[in-house]
Amino acid sequence: MGAPTNTNQRIMSDGEFTLLQGLVSTEFGIVLKDAKRAVLQTRVSQRLGVLKHKSYQEYFEYVMADPSKEELYLLASHITNNETYFFREKQQFDIFKLLLEDIKTEKQKAGKNTLSFLSLASSSGEEAYTMNMVIQESGLFVWDWDIRIIGVDIDRDAIERARKAVYRSNSFRTAEGDFHIMKKYFVRDDDRYMLKKHLTKNIEFRHGNLIRKETFEGLSGIDAIFCRNVMIYMRDETIRLIAEHLYSVLSDTGYLFVGASESLIQKTDLFYPEHVQGTIVYRKNLKAKIRE
Ligand SMILES: C[S@@+](CC[C@H](N)C(=O)[O-])C[C@H]1O[C@@H](n2cnc3c(N)ncnc32)[C@H](O)[C@@H]1O
Repeated sequence: MGAPTNTNQRIMSDGEFTLLQGLVSTEFGIVLKDAKRAVLQTRVSQRLGVLKHKSYQEYFEYVMADPSKEELYLLASHITNNETYFFREKQQFDIFKLLLEDIKTEKQKAGKNTLSFLSLASSSGEEAYTMNMVIQESGLFVWDWDIRIIGVDIDRDAIERARKAVYRSNSFRTAEGDFHIMKKYFVRDDDRYMLKKHLTKNIEFRHGNLIRKETFEGLSGIDAIFCRNVMIYMRDETIRLIAEHLYSVLSDTGYLFVGASESLIQKTDLFYPEHVQGTIVYRKNLKAKIRE
């Protein structure tokens, strides 16, 4: 057991770090590199203080024994990187707008008027709301369309922030069009920007873990999925597992966007990359089989 430091933080021993690293990997699929040890120590030491635990080992045992998993998910909110902003990787949203025309055509051919989209690892909601803005801006779905967007994240605090839909200037970081968007879709109150209600009505945010199959229960025929900047923290086996979940809920004609610095190539044969104006969009490989 480590002694308290002068900042009242207990030093995390090698063994304790390995235990928590394993827990985070098994439960969330996130690989915590050794360089993250100091961050983990800082974050978890606060919980040690609150719970009056004497060591990280004791905390680990407490988390493992908690059937409600409340502490586990609290741990998730302490260690995840929630970095996000409106129109992040804007090129992908331009392509999304373009693809909406194909999606609409497919729907009309099938005589359907419902569309569904997912923002996975939605963090505080900027990605899901950006999707909604792009859909609105496209002007393609004016009458009689039923459009649903679902955001999912493991971090309950982030989900709460997403539901509130109140942002500050650091959520607007892209160079292009921010001012126009901020004026059009937000009501400003001092340094806060409140999203207008009509953009929140068709969006639902859920707490869920992408590595758990039950997170995807009840979902099917999704027209496009954004699952960006989360697999970057995961090992290939976990990415493959998530790809299986996405495969099972995405429509056969649907589109999958992953982060610009992420790739599914050589990780799974469930999806293949398609280049649309220089941007990679993944499509379902309909010949592939998912494991039972
Ligand atoms: C960097 S943010 C990405 C936000 C957004 N997708 C974007 O690209 O701007 C990563 C998010 O992934 C979430 N996350 C990490 N592991 C997860 C898991 N296993 N299941 C669901 N969400 C997870 C984190 O809580 C965090 O909000």
